[in-house]
Amino acid sequence: MAFHLSDDPVESARAAFAGSAGVAPAGIAFAPGRVNLVGEHTDYNDGFVLPMAIEEGIAAAFGPNDEAVLRVHACDIGETREVPIAALQGDRVHASGWFRYVAGMAWTMNASGMPVVGTTMTLAANLPSGAGLSSSAALELAAGRALAGAAGLDWDPRRMSRIAQRAEQEFAGVACGIMDQMAVACARAGGALLLDCRSLATADVLLPADVRVVIVNSGVRRSLATSAYNERRAACERAVAAVRTFAPEVRALRDVDERALEQARGAIDDEAYRRASHVIAENRRPARFAAALEHGDPAEAGRVMLESHASLRDLYEVSCPELDLLVALSMEQKGCYGARLTGAGFGGCAIALVDEKGVGSFARDVASAYAARTHIDPQVIVSRPSAGTRLLDM
Ligand code: GLA
Repeated sequence: MAFHLSDDPVESARAAFAGSAGVAPAGIAFAPGRVNLVGEHTDYNDGFVLPMAIEEGIAAAFGPNDEAVLRVHACDIGETREVPIAALQGDRVHASGWFRYVAGMAWTMNASGMPVVGTTMTLAANLPSGAGLSSSAALELAAGRALAGAAGLDWDPRRMSRIAQRAEQEFAGVACGIMDQMAVACARAGGALLLDCRSLATADVLLPADVRVVIVNSGVRRSLATSAYNERRAACERAVAAVRTFAPEVRALRDVDERALEQARGAIDDEAYRRASHVIAENRRPARFAAALEHGDPAEAGRVMLESHASLRDLYEVSCPELDLLVALSMEQKGCYGARLTGAGFGGCAIALVDEKGVGSFARDVASAYAARTHIDPQVIVSRPSAGTRLLDM
């Protein structure tokens, strides 16, 4: 399947809409991708995460139609799919590939009391898919924003992130947490979001002007990532069940510390024990990272990232040789404070926290060293923390 990312997704989506519908779109929605600075595999344990939205994302030009269909053209793939609005009610709609995220979002909005109307939409992206940058959450929320815009519905980012999470769980089969959808829906320009995944309370964490987050795509995709992800979640639940036998007030690993885990050690299998050990320590890292930045200590923030990576590699076992290599190569560069895999793992991207002055040489040198070792030319993205899902001025 031909797949081209747009240089300017907003213009691509706008032009494609005008070209096919013969009129200008009623509006254009944009949903960003995200990286997570630290706090990985903690969200579905009711824990803490620290994601930031990036500048790259998905644009959706939209307008209502009077044919009572949802018709969506994906410019980057050159494919148009449609479904009658009537089929988006009652039994779960059947859709496949990229369209299941859009139809799934529409179905879930209907099921949540947000009735969608006949809508024509053109999508264009400058966000790679399958790279661990939450292209699926971006697609759900870009489509959701467009559907809400076409139907004249109110937009509440927190509520929409819940709806998008449900769409992802039910239509993509990933038992995901709330991090990606919250980051994509609610992020603020200039900083990351320290998010409590139990209460959904957020605090803005500013990124100092002299450090940059550099994203390097390993180019590796794991085929069994969905089942491996769901297995990780199940292992965490086994650990919680064991702790609950003597501490019934515990609801999630968020409520468990090392002492409680040791107390339950005899009732926990080795795999669940390793997974829980990761989650318990990882849960403290977002606040440590945020405090380090606040105290002007990026070196400490970098150490927190390295600890997180080691734990994801050794205890949670979601890294891979290519991501470990990217982290090692990053740490050989001058001005790099820390690096780690970001997102679910099993391939995808690594991020590095880099002194702004050294970003150019960092990107060049890591990319060429990685290519020399793996024969994969990695995509490097240097992105500023950007705002969450929004309607653009027309
Ligand atoms: C994926 C999921 C998130 C989160 C991360 C791991 O991105 O969608 O909910 O669990 O993995 O931190």
